Amino acid sequence: MSAATTSAGTRRFSFVGVTTTKSAIMQVFPAWARHLGLDNVVMAGHDLPLHAEPERYRQLVEAIKAGPSELGGLVTTHKIDLFGACRDMFDFIDPYAELCGEVSCLSKRDGLFRAHAKDPISSGRSLDEFIAKGYWAATGAEALLFGAGGSNLAISLHLMTARPPEDRPRRIVVVNRSSARLASMRAMHERLGAGVKVDYVHNANLRDNDQLLSQVPPGSLVVNGTGMGKDAPGSPLTDEGMFPERGLVWELNYRGELGFLHQAERQKLERRLVVEDGWRYFVHGWACVVEEVFDLEMTAQVVSGLSDIALAQRGQDVTNPENDK
Ligand SMILES: NC(=O)c1ccc[n+]([C@@H]2O[C@H](COP(=O)([O-])OP(=O)(O)OC[C@H]3O[C@@H](n4cnc5c(N)ncnc54)[C@H](OP(=O)(O)O)[C@@H]3O)[C@@H](O)[C@H]2O)c1
Repeated sequence: MSAATTSAGTRRFSFVGVTTTKSAIMQVFPAWARHLGLDNVVMAGHDLPLHAEPERYRQLVEAIKAGPSELGGLVTTHKIDLFGACRDMFDFIDPYAELCGEVSCLSKRDGLFRAHAKDPISSGRSLDEFIAKGYWAATGAEALLFGAGGSNLAISLHLMTARPPEDRPRRIVVVNRSSARLASMRAMHERLGAGVKVDYVHNANLRDNDQLLSQVPPGSLVVNGTGMGKDAPGSPLTDEGMFPERGLVWELNYRGELGFLHQAERQKLERRLVVEDGWRYFVHGWACVVEEVFDLEMTAQVVSGLSDIALAQRGQDVTNPENDK
């Protein structure tokens, strides 16, 4: 199950996923470790099938918890299932992990075995790079999120909580294909009680999405969190959809056919859009976990250094469809 074994003095940083050996991070992490001065740290990939038996999650987490050379690690794909199976094994659970019922970061500090949900932090750091402080207060803009999956949930939590109440979107619109995801997102928002108006739209029709796009005010944020353009073909919009003037457009992926990103790029000059892909989100996702596990401070300079190192690998792996993180 593990892609790395320990030898004397080696410490292990775990990556829990489905096809971890195929991920670009396997090449990137050793270079990051050298750059950060993390001596004798190897990445250990743990591949588990989707929705694995709870006992398999518990065995893996117990090994990481108890092993003296085990430092912790990053969880992808299994975030909810692993948390559900292992909740009682953690000495500390951060508020986002409690709220979202998931864990993406396992770490140890002061003798405590800890669970964090880092997606609201990593997506927030990505957003903060292209949405200045005071932006929402100054513009009265809204956020239109296509997809109600884990990523847009994290993004909505950041938008609703990270900045002072006057500097939040005037309204958030979330659009999703199934109603179940919308219901669970609504329940989490209600538990949070952040006071931002949210409209939940059950829809998968592209023309209706174009219509929703035409209704958000200038400067609004539009996010593609459906996976369309990478996990599935197409875009949640038709080519006729018009982005808001001076809109902020964020495609969460950085590889694949990226139809939504290209639609925005075609309108970029005329409508003065800011268009971002998911590259910095990828870097921040890993950097947040490395920060927690190794107790490092991720300054903008450090993140830029990590991004440059990862970019050197980017051309090699971005077309690999099984590279899930
Ligand atoms: N750059 C990075 O490092 C990074 C990090 C995280 C995620 N991502 C990417 O971001 C995307 C979203 O991730 P996730 O974890 O949030 O995925 P997810 O949990 O699978 O959520 C995707 C959501 O989109 C909905 N959807 C699909 N097609 C739709 C349509 N036509 N109209 C409306 N809703 C639609 C799905 O609805 P149903 O409920 O009907 O299935 C689902 O709720 C993925 O492609 C992922 O690879 C990138």
